[in-house]
Amino acid sequence: MSALKNDTFLRALLREPTDYTPLWLMRQAGRYLPEYNATRARAGDFLTLCKTPDLATEVTLQPLARYPLDAAILFSDILTVPDAMGLGLYFATGEGPRFERPLRDEWEIRDLSAPDPNDKLGYVMDAVKSIRHALDGSVPLIGFSGSPYTLACYMIEGGSSDDYRHIKTMLYSRPDLLHRILDVTATAVTDYLNAQIEAGAQAVMIFDSWGGSLTPNAYREFSLDYMQRIVAGLVKERDGRRVPSIVFTKGGGNWLEAQAAIGADALGLDWHVDIGEARRRVGDRVALQGNLDPCALHGTPGAIRTEAKRILDSYGDHTGHVFNLGHGISQYTDPDKVGVLVETVHSHSRTLRTSSAN
Ligand code: CP3
Repeated sequence: MSALKNDTFLRALLREPTDYTPLWLMRQAGRYLPEYNATRARAGDFLTLCKTPDLATEVTLQPLARYPLDAAILFSDILTVPDAMGLGLYFATGEGPRFERPLRDEWEIRDLSAPDPNDKLGYVMDAVKSIRHALDGSVPLIGFSGSPYTLACYMIEGGSSDDYRHIKTMLYSRPDLLHRILDVTATAVTDYLNAQIEAGAQAVMIFDSWGGSLTPNAYREFSLDYMQRIVAGLVKERDGRRVPSIVFTKGGGNWLEAQAAIGADALGLDWHVDIGEARRRVGDRVALQGNLDPCALHGTPGAIRTEAKRILDSYGDHTGHVFNLGHGISQYTDPDKVGVLVETVHSHSRTLRTSSAN
């Protein structure tokens, strides 16, 4: 495999000096791009797109053909893991993800086991290999998974939820059952991420989209401890290079100090925290990834430039920043506005570097 031409993203995650601030966008391959919608229409539906490595490769590369992004992210979904555990994932049009068999009964929970990622999720590993081949060393490829708590939310609720009533009922009445689900899922996620690294993923990210809905105490017990276990079990080096890990708890800005202590290389931030303050709180323990409000992309080009510069200036002339949105890009985003953001982050961050050797 050819050497990496642009390793800015990997260097920033390891808090090494870079000439500019690298960026990628959560959900960068998605419905705001007409070419994505065309490929999805050819696939027939979203899950078929995920399960067909050639098509997953095609859509992974689409945002990179438009913008000089500094990383690619595997095109897949966090819910492929519970699907492989037998819950029967499907996407009802306009309703988001659903499971045919949500986890509610004790015997089903006792029966749950971690799938062999190279068997049940072999299509993901094939996509990783195919994307690495297609990227040809241009930028690094990010692999990912959901956190055990976030996956458990979908597995127990059976889909998206407003109040997480079922999982929270279990948390407060049968915590032993929830721990059993989280324990099996943490093993599944560790094996899954290591298989992605083995297949060619050069960094990995854990999406904890719902950990932020917990109390501080429950966050530690039901989300963070399991992510810590996963990070400890990850393959740390591949082909002579460190494989950095990023942990992102949406709504987790109150607990950055605790997150910084679990052994991950970087933390994702949503837009509720000031990134400069976050940097002072975590010190030099981790890199930070974030944190533009995705809705800022609905603003004028001038407003997008102002907001992007505000984040770069707040972080300041320090190593360890990967620019991103604070959550996934909206399907209503104008693709031209993304171009404005990418250009601003690259050019403005270069001007910040000229004041010192960094
Ligand atoms: O970032 C990327 O470009 C990689 C692809 C990616 C997708 N989902 C593709 C996707 C990633 C990293 C995810 C993660 C994911 N999936 C999360 C964690 C991040 C977050 O958003 O908090 C979650 C919670 C999911 C579960 C999920 N998948 C939901 C709730 C939905 C429906 C909501 C929506 O946006 O439609 C999905 C579907 C999904 N996953 C789409 C994409 C591009 C849209 C599906 C389509 O094309 O119709």
